[in-house]
Amino acid sequence: MMKTLITAVGMTGVALAAPLPLIPLPVSVKPGEGSFGFSKETTIRFSPGLETEAGLLASDLSTRTGSEQKAEADTKAKTPGGIVLGTDTSLDLPAGGYLLKITPDNVTVTGKDSAGVFYGTRTIIQLLPPLGTDAWKDSAPELLPAVEIKDYPRFAWRGTMLDVGRHLFPAEDVKRFIDWMAFHKLNVFHWHLTEDQGWRIEIRKYPKLTEVGAWRDSSPPYGNRKSDDGKRYGGFYTQEQIKEIVAYAAARHITIVPEIEMPGHAAAAIASYPELGNNDIPNYAPKVETRWGVHPYTFAPTEEVFSFITDVFTEVCELFPSQYIHMGGDEAPKNQWEKSPRVKALMKKEGFKTGHDVQSYFVKRVEKILEAKGRRLIGWDEIREGGLSPQATVMSWRGEAGGIASAKEGHDVVMAPNSHTYFDRYQARENQELAKGKEYEAIGGFQPIKKVYSYDPVPKALTPAEAKHIIGVQAQLWSEYFKDFKKVEYHAYPRMAALAEVAWTPLDQKDFSDFSKRLEGVMKQYDGGNLNYFKPDAPAAK
Ligand code: ACM
Repeated sequence: MMKTLITAVGMTGVALAAPLPLIPLPVSVKPGEGSFGFSKETTIRFSPGLETEAGLLASDLSTRTGSEQKAEADTKAKTPGGIVLGTDTSLDLPAGGYLLKITPDNVTVTGKDSAGVFYGTRTIIQLLPPLGTDAWKDSAPELLPAVEIKDYPRFAWRGTMLDVGRHLFPAEDVKRFIDWMAFHKLNVFHWHLTEDQGWRIEIRKYPKLTEVGAWRDSSPPYGNRKSDDGKRYGGFYTQEQIKEIVAYAAARHITIVPEIEMPGHAAAAIASYPELGNNDIPNYAPKVETRWGVHPYTFAPTEEVFSFITDVFTEVCELFPSQYIHMGGDEAPKNQWEKSPRVKALMKKEGFKTGHDVQSYFVKRVEKILEAKGRRLIGWDEIREGGLSPQATVMSWRGEAGGIASAKEGHDVVMAPNSHTYFDRYQARENQELAKGKEYEAIGGFQPIKKVYSYDPVPKALTPAEAKHIIGVQAQLWSEYFKDFKKVEYHAYPRMAALAEVAWTPLDQKDFSDFSKRLEGVMKQYDGGNLNYFKPDAPAAK
């Protein structure tokens, strides 16, 4: 778009028009003549198979106009007037691609597939005035600028991870989170469901996971992470709630990838069923943890534990249709294994030398369990320890090294480095944030929006063939310091906008100053949705 506008200035000498408030920036934007008048009377017509996309657009538009926008099945979908949604599988675009044409007569979205149609409708939403603004108060048509947009995503995995182990957020907030992912054309919601401090998913075969494992006796208060508030805290999602959230996400072309952490970050599960841990070591006393950090309780690499994992994944796979299931795998201390006579016997039998060999054995066993269910294993980069399982996909969080090595070995990789995609870090300088109150406490570090925006998920160290294994990029929202959902939003936005552009827009079209101008418009949409976002104009955030 910048190129088009700059050319226009060069030819005519007119002032540079403000860029359309679109994030992520589409692949190609050609401004046209005039505008389309959108009003209460505007009808949506759609081809077969697009009921969901048309219904969601109609409902989003109805929220804005305050009257019921009609969506009608129209197999011809050619008649002029209104908004017309269709697909054309012969379009020369990748999956998720779409063409959006706005003329004074009508608006057409033609998707390569239904996901493409959905993304086209999200672009329409971004072009309309924000919710709650005066624009929607009178009945005059809202003007959508005439434009031709051709668009498709750079990466197939455009993710965000939400940790509900440290703090739990109500199902309605999770849906709201999914809504804003959809707004940004993000498509993978990595749901971190189990932790040392809480197990959050109902598993029918193992009720104690939630009767015991979903509750802790205390949490550190804001302002003193080495202290205890003494308040019992907990809760979990029922299978019914999970099914509803999975369907809600699927309608918005978002896949939920569940994470069940193992072998480490498993204290809550082990407190529920102590026989799952290394109960043959001295001073064994698992509990649902009440402080943050890395804790020693790991699953034992026993047949009993692999049966438990099989059972848990049976229920998880019934709930989540995702091809990928995340097994965690990070920060699993090896010291309990090294002390356990049972694990020592296994090591001797298998010829293992270190705890890393046990980690590799564990991961390979889990991969087999998932493969038998027709699913693929993904895990944090520590799943490389002792040798990666054959088909695993790696989520590279300790920088890029694990991702680079895995891609070179032919494994798929999602880049999630803590250098650029850890949204639990501060967006402004720590002292500036803490001056506002101790409830602004974050885990530490400074990761402003510009830094997020600067990220390219394809490391220079990879050849083009190896780079094909980088399937995407993801933002992380670890929730130790998010006691409520408002705080999640404060950390997520507007960095999520930067992440969305990193994940979607061609590298050579990224431009932080242009992005910042478009963000002004997008932040008005945030205001309309009452998002509690961080205002990045604070000086230290630059
Ligand atoms: C992680 O941040 N431990 C994946």
